[in-house]
Amino acid sequence: MKWFKALNNNQIPRVDTIKTMEVNGKQICLINNEDKIIATQSHCPHAGGHFSGGWCKNGNLVCPIHRYEYSLTNGRGAEGQGDYINIYPTELREDGLYIGFEESWWSKLWG
Ligand code: FES
Repeated sequence: MKWFKALNNNQIPRVDTIKTMEVNGKQICLINNEDKIIATQSHCPHAGGHFSGGWCKNGNLVCPIHRYEYSLTNGRGAEGQGDYINIYPTELREDGLYIGFEESWWSKLWG
């Protein structure tokens, strides 16, 4: 796991807001759901909708296009959808918010 600084403390999204940004070349959504910061992929696996216009409901992220729902805990799509989104670990440190990305086998080999 490699950690990348995403934001300074004063840039962290307010409660119940979604912010999109790029971290280490990946487009991500940062969601403040009841004061917990969650990082997900930025596009919906259903038909590519952008989560930036979405919202949170009962612990799920709702896509604004066709309202598919994804768990903010494990990324799983609601029953019957058969899909999921990536959730990336976040860590609040003294100097800001960090996001962890799994290292791919080729980056381990070639650094
Ligand atoms: S594009 Fe997200 S639900 Fe269809």
